[in-house]
Amino acid sequence: MTSFGIHQIGVVKIEKEACYIEISQLYTTGLRHIEQFSHIYVLWWISMRDNPLDRSQMLATPPKLKTSIETGVFSSRSPTRPNPIGLTKVKLLRVENNKLYIDRIDAIDGTPVLDIKPYLPGDSVSVDEIKLPEWFDHLKEE
Ligand SMILES: C[S@@+](CC[C@H](N)C(=O)[O-])C[C@H]1O[C@@H](n2cnc3c(N)ncnc32)[C@H](O)[C@@H]1O
Repeated sequence: MTSFGIHQIGVVKIEKEACYIEISQLYTTGLRHIEQFSHIYVLWWISMRDNPLDRSQMLATPPKLKTSIETGVFSSRSPTRPNPIGLTKVKLLRVENNKLYIDRIDAIDGTPVLDIKPYLPGDSVSVDEIKLPEWFDHLKEE
């Protein structure tokens, strides 16, 4: 299969009082107008799972479930996957120069950031259209 090149554009910073994405100077022009959006998608590199074993696992056990189930990595949000890319929708609180302050993110401090995209209403479907396997039933209430 073909390999593609990806460039890190920033880094996740988790501090005691704040959580933000710091964008490298090379890419800050790309932030123009980002403050006009309330939510953004952050695509990040699941850096600590970037190893041959994690990349070769095709089955995963989703955490925090009542029952233990082994499912395909593409049917889960497992950090174990062939391309360790994380995707998180976050609330954009404010922008200060090259820093995007956000409410929370499930990436650890120092995690490389690959891309930022604005959240657009057309990206989501209404709740009654969602279908989930029964082991994710508890998420229907969130
Ligand atoms: C289950 S993954 C889901 C990530 C993302 N929301 C997604 O759906 O693609 C999130 C977990 O990855 C782990 N994690 C966060 N940053 C990481 C990193 N840089 N390397 C490896 N694991 C990381 C944390 O345990 C976190 O709870």
